[in-house]
Amino acid sequence: MSESKSGLGRILRAAAARVPEPRTAHRFLNRLTHPLRVDDYSSLVYPLWSSRELRGEVVSVRREADDAVTLVIKPGWGATPTYRPGQYLGIGVLVDGRWTWRSYSLTSAPTSGRGEYSVTVKAMPEGLLSNHIVGTVEPGTIVRLQAPAGDFHLPSPTPDKLMFVSAGSGVTPVMGMLRSMDRRSGQERFPDVVHVHSVRTREDALFYDELLALERTQPGYTLHLRVTAEEGRINAAQMSELVPDWSERPTWACGPSAMLDELDEHFGASGREDLYVERFTVNRDAGASGGTVTYGSTGKTVELDGATTILEGGESVGVQMPFGCRMGICQTCVVPLEDGHVRDLRNGTDHGPGERIQTCVSVALGDVELNL
Ligand SMILES: Cc1cc2nc3c(=O)[nH]c(=O)nc-3n(C[C@H](O)[C@H](O)[C@H](O)COP(=O)(O)OP(=O)(O)OC[C@H]3O[C@@H](n4cnc5c(N)ncnc54)[C@H](O)[C@@H]3O)c2cc1C
Ligand code: FES
Repeated sequence: MSESKSGLGRILRAAAARVPEPRTAHRFLNRLTHPLRVDDYSSLVYPLWSSRELRGEVVSVRREADDAVTLVIKPGWGATPTYRPGQYLGIGVLVDGRWTWRSYSLTSAPTSGRGEYSVTVKAMPEGLLSNHIVGTVEPGTIVRLQAPAGDFHLPSPTPDKLMFVSAGSGVTPVMGMLRSMDRRSGQERFPDVVHVHSVRTREDALFYDELLALERTQPGYTLHLRVTAEEGRINAAQMSELVPDWSERPTWACGPSAMLDELDEHFGASGREDLYVERFTVNRDAGASGGTVTYGSTGKTVELDGATTILEGGESVGVQMPFGCRMGICQTCVVPLEDGHVRDLRNGTDHGPGERIQTCVSVALGDVELNL
């Protein structure tokens, strides 16, 4: 049955959009439909209607570059209508029969209604989900969602002066913040924003035309585009020359680890505590040996190398563990370590028995047992 042609589909769509779930009735219906659940039937008619998980439908796919696309996602029942510009969204996509989860920064500006989410995904070399999304995801694809989250967002009220430093796909959360400030500029003044953005080539620059247009329409916004293939990477000292009043600007930065580490050091050396960073990736080369990981009472074990995280290893043998950002940000994945040692990929810190570890950024240092 085509959902767009079906009156019932339209009715369910409206219900899913507006009506809070009557929990008692839902429980009663679940008893009637046992052993299947109400969701199992309703999903057949309207795939976005689920009370068990957040779902979304990809309603459009816009190509931003050869290796990058923007997905516009219409959220289903229960989705958080508002979020802070700069936050990320957890997205699960079915790849070869398995739901594969990653985080993506919201590039859309929040709206007051239910709205739609947009994220921009750049294919990473050998990256599982990013290549799948950029290569194959089409409008109509149903995805699973986690509510928007993260501390990388502008405070309220927005400071009068600020700076963004971004590189490559690290422009995505900045884009969400800029679009939001642009949208709000009818009601409040667009702040004094300096944006230092690095790209390898001009063709690689995501949203370049939109950033240039913003510079024309918002006098408060200044873009410094650094093309690294022509001018080399910008270092912290050059950045200070480019933005002479950088010390007066709270700064939000997102890009490769090396750039963020250098900025961190530069701000730290000046006693600054107003640098906020978002990291998309960790360096997996932490010199860990790997080992056999035992997932507590599940009894499952897996042999892992020193670059595969404890979370990924568990998923590969069907152990469902809690997770959120998958990048050491949200603490959702924390579990106690029963035996053995692990290394944190972000900073090389080792953890031993009795400590609580973040499985999404921890790799095995020899044999390990989790307390699950
Ligand atoms: C808060 C947040 C926001 C983000 N926002 C964006 C965004 O807006 N846009 C965007 O494009 N990305 C964003 N990311 C990154 C995104 O979540 C994914 O990490 C990215 O798309 C890569 O996923 P993947 O499945 O393609 O790669 P993966 O398969 O996870 O691999 C990533 C890299 O690690 C390597 N790797 C994987 N497993 C191993 C292993 N066992 N041993 C050695 N190397 C390995 C791969 O070769 C690859 O280079 C964000 C991340 C976070 C945490
Ligand atoms: S999943 Fe967020 S910290 Fe591990």
